[in-house]
Amino acid sequence: MLDIASNRPALPPEIARRRTFAIISHPDAGKTTLTEKFLLFGGAIQMAGQVRAKGEARRTRSDFMQMEKDRGISVSASAMSFDYKTFRFNLVDTPGHSDFSEDTYRTLTAVDAAVMVIDGAKGVESQTQKLFEVCRLRDLPILTFCNKMDRESRDTFEIIDEIQEMLAIDVTPASWPIGQGRDFIGCYDILRDRLELMDRADRNKVAESIEINGLDDPKLAQHVPAHLLEQLHEELEMARALLPELDPQAVLEGHMTPIWFGSAINSFGVKELMDGIGSYGPEPQIQSAEPRKISPEETKVSGFVFKVQANMDPKHRDRVAFVRMASGHFKRGMKLTHVRTKKPMAVSNPVLFLASDRELADEAWAGDIIGIPNHGQLRIGDTLTEGEALRVTGIPSFAPELLQGVRAGDPMKAKHLEKALMQFAEEGAAKVFKPMIGSGFIVGVVGALQFEVLASRIELEYGLPVRFDGSQFTSARWVAGDKAALDKFINANKQHIAHDHDGDTVYLTRLQWDIDRVIRDYPELKLTATKEMM
Ligand code: G4P
Repeated sequence: MLDIASNRPALPPEIARRRTFAIISHPDAGKTTLTEKFLLFGGAIQMAGQVRAKGEARRTRSDFMQMEKDRGISVSASAMSFDYKTFRFNLVDTPGHSDFSEDTYRTLTAVDAAVMVIDGAKGVESQTQKLFEVCRLRDLPILTFCNKMDRESRDTFEIIDEIQEMLAIDVTPASWPIGQGRDFIGCYDILRDRLELMDRADRNKVAESIEINGLDDPKLAQHVPAHLLEQLHEELEMARALLPELDPQAVLEGHMTPIWFGSAINSFGVKELMDGIGSYGPEPQIQSAEPRKISPEETKVSGFVFKVQANMDPKHRDRVAFVRMASGHFKRGMKLTHVRTKKPMAVSNPVLFLASDRELADEAWAGDIIGIPNHGQLRIGDTLTEGEALRVTGIPSFAPELLQGVRAGDPMKAKHLEKALMQFAEEGAAKVFKPMIGSGFIVGVVGALQFEVLASRIELEYGLPVRFDGSQFTSARWVAGDKAALDKFINANKQHIAHDHDGDTVYLTRLQWDIDRVIRDYPELKLTATKEMM
């Protein structure tokens, strides 16, 4: 059977019902609250407050460390599966703190869509914009939720204009807010001609939903005060004239975002958004890979690692690789090929993440996220197949923006430190460079907080107190090119050369001027700020 719209074979129903997405937002916009409501309406938790610590406290460092120690929580929150109506949602969590953005970027390679949460009073904030740009690189469909409408918020047109201008994407209203701030009473559901009224008394109650027969339905006046009704009419008329209508194909291609207005904390607008994810989601998409793309409906199983979490149980040094299934129907116990090493791998104890628990996954379909416990064989970017030599592409590794030297508190423990650093490098928690000249290592991260987290983890997991010191370098670039040119370059710049944990050559410097000079003097070499994980 052919799906007329996409001109592709229709997916098996089990795959077609899957929606794998992430939430992107600026800290404080309400991502955690929205996640919790998703889980509540998906039946994965019984009451709000089960999943998280309280807002601000959760983001402080001490609390983060606590969370890191309590690996169970942070890991099970990395991917959450739950059913909603006929759909299976796989929500992949992105770390909220901007210091962990690299992890976030990689997570976005494992999803088919993103929900962008913005604060109705603040509009598009810096972190949202950054994350949006990453989604744009992959033309990821974006659904927008404008949160905190129960509070004083910006004018609806102003919010929509800001998104259109700052993010260069068409915005189409899926709902329209009625009243503002304290006068906010709910939304008109444009897509389904319904009036949704918010209940301020009970935060966990789903809004009262009244079916309306178009905007002239007298029922509207029974529920909406006259002045707000008049305003609604005016605004919707203007919206119709000025804003594009919903075009599902444009949403799928990432050119248009539908926007829902609501209040996560009041459970308002959340179900409408969930229905939207179901309708425009989209279903699991084709995965880019070499030498050919992978389609979800292929009967052979394939998947790729987008995140590794090490030492989940410090006693056992185990690791869990998070795998996004790209095709087929996986069953527990299957033997898959680990393409990078060409070795077979029996996947006998894969786990599925359900809100705050994890359980053995007996099966998984394209679109699902499973965790595979392993002893370090699986790395970010690895592909698993039933034998074919495919390699999923597009999983980036970024040049670190902060570099520091690292030393073991006890010089006799240098070898241990090397082992610990290599593990973290493979996990993707930091970049580790071994300079050609001199001893020791240089560690590179994207955000300063990562140094502290690393120091604390090395101490906790390896019993090694370490010190980070300033490094003479501030930038790192991977260098590639044919061997003769590369050797010539390395010989002439030994003080600036290091190797990463894969053995790839890295150029370290503190001046942009140096980088420009290398680009000018060595046209046959390629300097890059990102490296694809292999
Ligand atoms: P984040 O994950 O995006 O960082 O945001 P989070 O959900 O933690 O929400 C940030 C703050 O905004 C929280 O307040 C939360 O209660 C509040 N919030 C979320 N949704 C809404 C909403 O629809 N309306 C209003 N008025 N507030 C909302 P907090 O004081 O930081 O934490 P808490 O003590 O309330 O948990």
